[in-house]
Amino acid sequence: MNHKKNILITGGAGFIGSHVVRRFVTCYPNYLIINLDCLTYAGNLENLTDIESCSNYRFVKQDICEALSLDQVFKEFKISDVIHLAAESHVDRSIEDPLSFVNTNVIGTVNLLNSAKKHWGNEPDHLFYHISTDEVYGSLGETGFFTESTAYDPQSPYSASKAASDHFARAYYNTYKIPIVISNCSNNYGPNQFPEKLIPLCINNILNSKPLPIYGKGDNIRDWLFVEDHAAAIDTIFHSGKLGATYNIGGLNEWTNLQLVETLCDVVDKKINQPIGTSRSLITFVTDRSGHDHRYAIDASKLQTELNWNPSLEFEEGLSKTVDWYLANEDWLKSVTSGNYQEYYKQLYNNRK
Ligand code: NAD
Ligand code: DAU
Repeated sequence: MNHKKNILITGGAGFIGSHVVRRFVTCYPNYLIINLDCLTYAGNLENLTDIESCSNYRFVKQDICEALSLDQVFKEFKISDVIHLAAESHVDRSIEDPLSFVNTNVIGTVNLLNSAKKHWGNEPDHLFYHISTDEVYGSLGETGFFTESTAYDPQSPYSASKAASDHFARAYYNTYKIPIVISNCSNNYGPNQFPEKLIPLCINNILNSKPLPIYGKGDNIRDWLFVEDHAAAIDTIFHSGKLGATYNIGGLNEWTNLQLVETLCDVVDKKINQPIGTSRSLITFVTDRSGHDHRYAIDASKLQTELNWNPSLEFEEGLSKTVDWYLANEDWLKSVTSGNYQEYYKQLYNNRK
């Protein structure tokens, strides 16, 4: 069958990528979706078992740092568009090992841009969609929001690597006319998130009666968005975004970390029928993250007014769905936290006590 588009989705076995792959495979049977992922600790094909046998889905195990084999993939599948999510995504890991973030997030992105340049030339009707983060804008005080014109001011090795990759995407648009679009999203939560990130880490620790580590005083603020709403925004921007443009994506949903973890504790207590307060007793204040950004808050009005996207879920509903998913998928949690994870977590937690 001839497909209308052959879309390369990188990082499709990860948290957000798996939701994007599922959405595109199921909503667009006339697109061929090629999920390219090298399956790091964060990539897991179990995230996609429900769609793996769909006729418009292919998986390629491949590292974006290997330029020559990327070219082969572009050639073999006649890639028409790219949605690029593959990345090292965890801030704490970037503090321990910045270079692997430079390799994947910067060099890997430039490799993909080079393949697009080589295979697309100046042909019309292609798109390189780079998925990025609100962390490139740095940290906010108590008021104000990040807009698309906020100056970049990345503070962690992770955000510096994502900022660099955004700049490269724009540089390829300006210099080589590669058709790009970029979106910068706030904190995602939902099913399939690796339990090193705050929400699944706390759910996993509650289920194992382990401490819930809150960095510093727990007064840092994040703006949370349900992952399927991010996938819907990506779909909208992919189909209707303006070439060369940037779109901020966020949920207008700010919580301090402490408020969030306390709420999460109560939701879990209720669902597993234990007295409210049981899980809160696991909350433990630990040494702060170095250079911890104080507050992120996204102004998503451009996306809302120009492209008519809005988040569909209230936070209470999203959190409840998320907890339900982790409770129903304890095997998934056990499988992704086996192997090296235990050692990584022990070290991280011991360093912070
Ligand atoms: P994740 O860590 O869950 O998944 C990353 C995926 O990329 C994994 O499947 C991994 O195997 C793959 N990968 C990593 N290095 C690779 C390489 N060298 N070659 C090929 N594949 C590789 O990440 P996530 O949270 O799903 O984030 C996805 C993207 O969205 C990232 O670009 C991230 O910066 C961005 N983002 C994340 C959030 C968030 O809250 N998680 C918010 C905004 C933007
Ligand atoms: O804003 C978007 C970004 O959100 C994405 O670009 C990143 O890929 C994603 O990891 C996320 O970054 P954060 O650093 O905000 O997420 P994390 O879940 O690691 O932490 C959320 C907040 O909770 C942050 O203020 C640090 C704090 N925290 C985190 C952990 C893991 C704790 O207090 N204790 C913890 O154990």
